[in-house]
Formats: sequence, C-alpha cells, structure tokens
Amino acid sequence: MLNNIAVLTSGGDAPGMNACVRAVVRMGISRGLRVFGVHRGYAGLIEGDIEPLTNRSVGGIMQRGGTFLQTARSLAFMQPEGRQQALGQLRVHGIEGLVVIGGNGSMAGALCLRDLGVAVVGVPASIDNDMYGTDVAIGVDTALNTQIETIDKIKDTASSHNRCFVVQVMGRRCGYLALVGGIISGAEISVIPERHVAKEDIARVLHKAHDLGKPHAIAVVAEGAEYSAAELAEYLTQADPGFEVRYTVLGHVQRGGAPSAADRLLATRLGVEAVNALAEGKTGVMVGVVRGAIHHADLAQVADRTRPVDLGEYGLADILAR
Ligand code: F6P
Repeated sequence: MLNNIAVLTSGGDAPGMNACVRAVVRMGISRGLRVFGVHRGYAGLIEGDIEPLTNRSVGGIMQRGGTFLQTARSLAFMQPEGRQQALGQLRVHGIEGLVVIGGNGSMAGALCLRDLGVAVVGVPASIDNDMYGTDVAIGVDTALNTQIETIDKIKDTASSHNRCFVVQVMGRRCGYLALVGGIISGAEISVIPERHVAKEDIARVLHKAHDLGKPHAIAVVAEGAEYSAAELAEYLTQADPGFEVRYTVLGHVQRGGAPSAADRLLATRLGVEAVNALAEGKTGVMVGVVRGAIHHADLAQVADRTRPVDLGEYGLADILAR
C-alpha cells in the first residue's frame, strides 16, 4: 500500500510543468496519498530539499510558465554516491513513489532510481520534442507558439526593409522546433541537424523568394544544425540573396511564458496518469501520448535517447512557401 509520494521537475524547464505538478498533487491527495515536492530536481533530492504539498500549495500555478519547484541539472546525481544519498532521503521522508517530470536526461535519472528499487514514473516535459515514448512532450506547443509569434513579428520588420532573416531556435540535437515551426511560420527553409543542406542551396532558396517578388524571406535554423545563425548570416551576406541579411537567436525566450491550452491539458492528463500508475504499481515507465492515447513506455526505452524529427514533412516548407 502506497502512502507517500513525491514529485520533482528536472532538466530544462518547460511551460506546463506547473500544471503537471498541480495534477500530481491534487490527484495524489484525492487518492488518499501524502504528496511531497522536491525542490531543484535531483540536486534537491540529494540534499533533502523536500516539503509536503497541499492542494493550496499548488493553487494559482497552472497558468505560470517555468516550474515553481525549480529545476536543475545535477552532476552529483550522475555519481553512484549521489544516487545513494537521494535514496537515503527518500527513505528518511518515507517516500515510496516518485514522479519525475523532465526530458531525456531526467528519464535516465529515473531509470537509475528504478534500478535501485524505487517505484518511479516519468512524465515527458521538454520543449525539444525529442523524446521516445510520446508523440509530444509538455512544453512543445507553447514553445512553438512563442516561436511563430516571434517570427510573425520579425516578418513585419523584414518586409519593411526588404530583408531576409535567419532565425535560430532551440531544440538541442533535434530539428523538430525548426522544422515544424518553420512550416507553420511560413519560412522558406528550415536547417536541421537531421539533414545536410549546403549553404549555397540555402542562398538559392532565399534568392528564389526574392525573385518571386516576396518582401522578405525567412530561414529557421535549429541550434544543433551544422551552421549557426551567425555563420549562416555571414555567408549569406557575401552570397547576396537579393535581400539584406539579419539574424536573430530566440534562445531561452522559447522556454518561458504561460502554457498554452494544449500544454495545460497534456500536463494535467499525464500528471493524473502518473499518479494512477504509481498507485496501481505500474512503475518503471514513462507515461506519454501516442496517437492520441495514453501510453506507458519502459524507462529503459526512452532514457537518454534523442528522437530525430520525422523527415516526412521536410519538403513541405519549400512547397508551401512558394
Ligand atoms: O532541452 C531544452 C533546452 O532548452 C534545449 O533546447 C537547449 O539546447 C537547452 O535546453 C539549453 O539548456 P540551458 O538552459 O542549460 O542553457
């Protein structure tokens, strides 16, 4: 019989993490559990930075970006001694089940705890959308919305000056945000880690936009791509695609902001599912959504792996930007 569970957020924050913590706490309490919050991810777990949460402690947080529990990337937890300390803290607090909300690295941490005998359930949260075991992670929708709003604004100024912009977006080693965000912002081309494209071809695509009479052109570049926005902008300036060239790096702006409706819903569904899985003994898994339905993936299948973007849509940007 489970009595006490805990929840932590780990790795890069993602909009919707708070909504997920709220769901875990309120679902847990409704099932008769005591729910603890661990501050600063695995770092806080090692240090025992743990407090009981109530329904009131998670009031008013659903609409807030970031994570009120705070998060960290803990080097100490990567060492066996650190993990033993974490295990000790779980025992001291009588915590019998743990929900870990985070990305690939966080799931690797959860897998380590599972291997030490901890009942753990993971919830995918990462703007990169590079996680196996789920079609979409918490935070992706909001990050995409921020991206397209920003590119819409860039287009206003780009059109006014007849410029092309290279816009660099996040995504670590995955091109999802650049590819999908490029398509839905009407970019001419997306440059992603999963596919080589010569600089000359990028210049050609932008030049074509100029020849078509467009007032601006946009190239979206993933941060993990073979060229950075700065490098590409420098090359394009020399290559002269017909437009003046500027570049913008979106950076951490993409991780902030109030979570979208889709992220609040996803986070809530997955938080509820994580508690139910723990309570029913279905642990050692990450709960996700595959083809619209809740899915449980073995942590070993998802931990520390990067899912590349589906290249099926790669040609779309070119067709639709004509
Ligand atoms: O994994 C989320 C992410 O925002 C990546 O897109 C990016 O590469 C990385 O985190 C940035 O990490 P940090 O916040 O530590 O600079």
